[in-house]
Amino acid sequence: MRTPYIAGNWKMHKTASEAEALARDLVRSLDREAKKVMIAPAFTALGAVKRCLEGSHILLGAQNMGPEEQGAHTGEVSVLMLKDLGVEVVILGHSERRHKYGEGDELINQKVKLAVSHGLDVVLCVGETLEQRDSGTTTGIVEEQLRRGLNGLGALAQVTIAYEPVWAIGTGKTATAKDADDTHRFIRELLARLYNQKEAEEMIIQYGGSVKPNNAAELMAMENIDGLLVGGASLTADSFVPIVRYDAGS
Ligand code: PGA
Repeated sequence: MRTPYIAGNWKMHKTASEAEALARDLVRSLDREAKKVMIAPAFTALGAVKRCLEGSHILLGAQNMGPEEQGAHTGEVSVLMLKDLGVEVVILGHSERRHKYGEGDELINQKVKLAVSHGLDVVLCVGETLEQRDSGTTTGIVEEQLRRGLNGLGALAQVTIAYEPVWAIGTGKTATAKDADDTHRFIRELLARLYNQKEAEEMIIQYGGSVKPNNAAELMAMENIDGLLVGGASLTADSFVPIVRYDAGS
């Protein structure tokens, strides 16, 4: 049985005080949810949000991380700094990191291994662009991102995969639940080949890309969709709370 895992990626939104206010609202509304919930504010708000989450079961995530423990990396934030702030999860390989900031699979893999070796959980994002989808290479792209992103990682216990078709992020276009589920199934089968059946069966595979309160239940009703990575709709309690509370039976 895979526990549903709903995550909010706040991207480059909210000052520390704004983030704190939203975190307080979410703790009030969501603390009794049986699902696994994570929120990932900007680096500058991590400390303030952590204080709001004290005693709550909502997990604190970061949106990225530097590739080394410390050193001459101007503008980067290290795994040690994140852990010191109480961060439990880090999102890596988000398509905005890949496409706007040129992060490649090798760098992402370095970060994945570093985070895991320090005991952080990782949400590893993969997904194809519209061009790649139109040329029929979705599974090839996703396979390469997973093979290279997980290269050298012995076990999957600390890893969640987020499948986010790039063309669906922030565009209002969602993959149909059936199309998303097909890719999720492909990912699970690939993980069974790369690792083993048991780990693949237990793996949480989130869908991301224009998730809203009105499509969460339909997506989560699919056999291989175990969670959601939510961007825009995670920025207010009014939209994020109903997503977390989706009822797949409805
Ligand atoms: P979106 O973003 O929900 O705004 O499409 C999802 C994401 O980038 O994780």
